[in-house]
Amino acid sequence: MMLRRFAFPIFASAAMALAAGSFTRPSFDSSGAMKRPEGYRRWIFLGANYGMGYTEGETVDTQKPKPSTFHNIYVQSAAYDHFAHTGEYPDGAMLVMEIVKPGTHASINKQGIFQHQVVGIEVGVKDSKRFAEKWRYYKFFSSEGKPLDTAKAYPKEACWNCHNLHGAADNTFSQFYPAAREVRPEVAKALETVKSAH
Ligand code: HEC
Repeated sequence: MMLRRFAFPIFASAAMALAAGSFTRPSFDSSGAMKRPEGYRRWIFLGANYGMGYTEGETVDTQKPKPSTFHNIYVQSAAYDHFAHTGEYPDGAMLVMEIVKPGTHASINKQGIFQHQVVGIEVGVKDSKRFAEKWRYYKFFSSEGKPLDTAKAYPKEACWNCHNLHGAADNTFSQFYPAAREVRPEVAKALETVKSAH
């Protein structure tokens, strides 16, 4: 009898913990600044891009000498499942972009490059109740290259506009992420990687 009485609450709380655990929500302090998301390396890895730049019209002469970086993109697994089914992210979704400096010629490595040092963490957050424009963008590194515990959102014109205009799905650059292309054919088409079967 005792077992029976305890079995249900234990089962229910385990299920709730699982649901909550698979979807870490964004959190904000009393001033409205966002807290840096933790544990994102355990989320779904959407993909890694290398050395991507967004500025058109730069020539070798006008380009600032800037070493290429890796961009690793992560999203909560429950948010990814929602995206796979609907092509949109749910409220509370966070896309974390970790920016990593390359390294070479260390340990046994004689050729090629590996991911060396995290030099940036940028986050896109969806919350259609909190934000009129649905998505806001944050950077959790200071200009001196130090990680920040909290960050204020960027103004719309600094980040949102380009994401909204050129992102293939729901303000995100899903066309560049293998795990997003795999689950949404329209996203794959946006990159012209899907050829018509006919
Ligand atoms: C001119 C266009 C442009 C602007 C402006 C821009 N981004 Fe992006 N962003 C991109 C592209 C392209 C990607 C694709 C992935 C990459 O860069 O590796 C991206 C990817 C991202 C991602 C990964 C998730 C996603 O939405 O695809 C985050 C987070 C992000 N940017 C944050 C920011 C922040 C913060 C700002 C403003 C400070 C910003 N971006 C401004 C073009 C832009």
